Amino acid sequence: MTPHLGQELLYLSQSDVASCGLAMPKVIGAIESMFREKGEGRVEIPPKIGVHTMPDAFIHAMPAFIPVQKAVGVKWVGGYPANSQRSLPYITGLVILNDPETGVPISIMDCTWITAQRTGAATAVAAKYLARTDSTTAGILGCGVQGRSNLEALKTLFPLKKVFAYDTHSDQAVRYAQQMSKQLEVEVVAVADPKQAVVHSDIVVTTGPILRKPHATIQPGWLAKGAFASLVDFDSYWHAAALHEADKFTTDDVLQLHYYRDMGYFQNIPPIYADLGELVTARKPGRQLPGERTIACNLGLALDDIAVAPLVYARAMELRIGTWLQL
Ligand SMILES: NC(=O)c1ccc[n+]([C@@H]2O[C@H](COP(=O)([O-])OP(=O)(O)OC[C@H]3O[C@@H](n4cnc5c(N)ncnc54)[C@H](O)[C@@H]3O)[C@@H](O)[C@H]2O)c1
Repeated sequence: MTPHLGQELLYLSQSDVASCGLAMPKVIGAIESMFREKGEGRVEIPPKIGVHTMPDAFIHAMPAFIPVQKAVGVKWVGGYPANSQRSLPYITGLVILNDPETGVPISIMDCTWITAQRTGAATAVAAKYLARTDSTTAGILGCGVQGRSNLEALKTLFPLKKVFAYDTHSDQAVRYAQQMSKQLEVEVVAVADPKQAVVHSDIVVTTGPILRKPHATIQPGWLAKGAFASLVDFDSYWHAAALHEADKFTTDDVLQLHYYRDMGYFQNIPPIYADLGELVTARKPGRQLPGERTIACNLGLALDDIAVAPLVYARAMELRIGTWLQL
C-alpha cells in the first residue's frame, strides 16, 4: 500500500523500471500464476480497444484486474513499425497502477521494459507446456527487443546449447549474437537465411513486425517434427500451410484473437486448441507426444503487464527508486 495514497503517485521512468532489476524467473512466475487465475476465471480483462493512426500502427488501451494479486491498472501502449527510421523504439507507452480498494492512482511507469520482459515470459510459460523439455536449439527471427527478452526467458527454463539468429538487417543479427552469447553464456550464431533459423531449431520465435497481410516467409516443411514455435509477431512470418502443420495451435486469449481477426489479422490460421489458462490449469493437456508440432500465438494481454507492474512498484519502493508526483 502506497504511503502517500491520494496525495502523490510514484513516477518510474524507463531507467527507473529497468534499475529495479526484477529477475526473469520472478516475471515468469508472475505470468504463470496470472494465467492460472485466468484459467480459473478469476480475473477481469475487457477486450483490447485502440486507435490506429496509420496502417499497421496502433495505440491500445489495456486495463486489467487480478484480484488475488491485488493488481489493477491500465497500459496505454503504442506500436509503430516505422519508428526505427526515426531511431525510436517500436513499442512505447505507460502503465498506470491503481489502488484496488479506492481506485486512486498509485504509480505511473514507463512500459517498455515490462512489455519486453512479460512477453518473453509468456513465451516461456507457453513453451513450458508445449515444447519438449529437452529442447536444446532455438531460432530467433527478429533480433530486436523481443528477440532478446524471449531468448532470456527461454534460457531460464530450457537447456539451450545453440541459438540461430536471423534478422533482415544482418548487422543486427551479428550484434545480437555477440551480445546474447555473452549475456546468456550460450552459443548464438547469426545466420543469413531465415530457413537456417527454423529447420534445426527445437524452439522457434518470430519477432519481426506485425503485419495484417503476412509476409509468409516460413514455408511448410521448415518447422521440424517435435518443435515448438512462439509467434510474438502474430501470423506475419508464417505461410498459412506452415501454420496448418501444427498439431496444437494455442493463444493467450481467444476473444482477443477474434478481435484481431475482425480487424483483418489471422485470416488463415488453424483451429485454436486451447488458451494458455487452460494449459496452465491442466484443463487441456499440453504436449503429449515427442513428435508433435506445437505453436503458441500469444497476443499480449493487459493481464501480463498488470501481473508484473506491481512487482516493479514494490521493488521501487523497497529500493527507493522513482519520483513522487503530486496528484
Ligand atoms: N505478442 C505480444 O505480446 C507482443 C508484445 C510486444 C511486441 N510485440 C511485437 O513484437 C515485434 C517485435 O517488437 P520489438 O519491440 O522487438 O521490435 P524491434 O524493432 O526492437 O525489433 C524488431 C526486429 O525485427 C527485425 N526485422 C524486421 N523484419 C524482419 C523480418 N522479416 N525477419 C527478421 N527480422 C526482421 C528488425 O530489423 C528488428 O531488428 C513487433 O511486431 C511487436 O509489435 C508483440
